[in-house]
Amino acid sequence: MTRPAHQATTRNLGAVYPFVADAGLGAPGVLIGTDVAGATFAHDPFELYRRGIVTNPNMVVFGQIGRGKSALVKTYLWRHAVFGRRAWVVDPKGEYGPLARRWGVTPVHLRPGGSLRLNPLDAPPAAAAGADGPDEIARRRAELLVALAGAGLDRVLLPTERVAVELAVGTVSGRQRAPTLPDVVAAMLAPSAAAAAAIRSDVATLAADGRHAALELRRLVAGDLRGMFDGPTSPGVELGAPLVVLDLSSLYRSPALGVVMTCATAWLHAQLAGAASVPAGVLIVVDEAWAILSNLAVARWLQSSWKLARAWGVANIAVLHRVSDLTASGAEGSEHQQLARGLLADSETRVVYGQAPGEIDAARHLLGLSPTEAELVPQLGRGVALWKVGGRSFVVRHLVGRSEADLVGTDDRMQAAVR
Ligand SMILES: Nc1ncnc2c1ncn2[C@@H]1O[C@H](COP(=O)(O)OP(=O)(O)OP(=O)(O)O)[C@@H](O)[C@H]1O
Ligand SMILES: [Mg+2]
Repeated sequence: MTRPAHQATTRNLGAVYPFVADAGLGAPGVLIGTDVAGATFAHDPFELYRRGIVTNPNMVVFGQIGRGKSALVKTYLWRHAVFGRRAWVVDPKGEYGPLARRWGVTPVHLRPGGSLRLNPLDAPPAAAAGADGPDEIARRRAELLVALAGAGLDRVLLPTERVAVELAVGTVSGRQRAPTLPDVVAAMLAPSAAAAAAIRSDVATLAADGRHAALELRRLVAGDLRGMFDGPTSPGVELGAPLVVLDLSSLYRSPALGVVMTCATAWLHAQLAGAASVPAGVLIVVDEAWAILSNLAVARWLQSSWKLARAWGVANIAVLHRVSDLTASGAEGSEHQQLARGLLADSETRVVYGQAPGEIDAARHLLGLSPTEAELVPQLGRGVALWKVGGRSFVVRHLVGRSEADLVGTDDRMQAAVR
């Protein structure tokens, strides 16, 4: 038997989820659960940031499969809704549907050849574009395209390739409408004389320089991924709703998942960049973020967007399996390791669910776990995590209310148990 959907407006939810005055962190926040001593534990990234308890509002959630990472995020978003917070979610498994329905919205389902498109090269809404000049917008577009081409080619682009991308972005920017991926690919395959002259080259050489990168980007335009990111954003897709879920589940098992998630995240970030009035407290979630962080070029791009997010007044939440997802194959001292450290430095709330014993060295190293914490982490059961917030640690059991069971259930046995 299916449970009836829980009916509640955000107004009467205020009574169910009060903003808890928390002794633990010394700042009020939404209830997460209880700590080992049985005291309530609450968390709010914006409040912690406002009070200087953390220097940034971003969060990373680590944990082995099935430990309750997504369950935490879903209830976290739902409990924040009471306070007028909004959430934008990149959902690679298509599991945020129940949360969306609870919020009264429909997920945006992206699939190759589908009817909805997002343009990752969108500029911020014209009315709000004051903060970032056209040069900055072009720079970020080029950075994204370099990351996408690098991810597809599985290598770092050569300087000549980077320049070919940058010049093509320059050629297609400044038009009436935001450029699209097909515009950029066309400008790379057939560069303008002005672009070639800018680097004392000729059109044929510049075209040859950019050809590999252009063909890789063309995959998103004419290849197996067409129809999702290759045109102006479809009318009706907008971020005005309190919750926006980008459902990418039709590509979950595809090797292209990382590229697709990057485009989706880029589109969300493009909506924020330079916006004069981002609605107070947007939470941007990238679930299964390991799929994008394993690529160096994309990790580099994400880190710079992540940094900017602080200025935009949003909190990013990335969900990963293992600490080593952040470093992929990067050797100690490598750029990948440095990026991992940078991303963690920009995420002062780290939630660590159970990790395999083999991960503990990396966790100690990158997250600064104490010897006791390092011993504890492999033993944590489902729903229990070590929270490290601005240098302080708490072991917290995440409480899921009866009315939230249908939001979080992702395994059938559990589903059966709560019915
Ligand atoms: N705190 C909790 N209390 C009760 N049940 C929970 C709790 N956290 C998670 N669960 C249940 O455990 C199951 C797995 O949780 P969830 O999908 O959140 O795991 P996950 O860590 O996101 O896994 P994956 O890595 O596969 O995405 C779900 O069915 C959920 O209902
Ligand atoms: Mg999950």
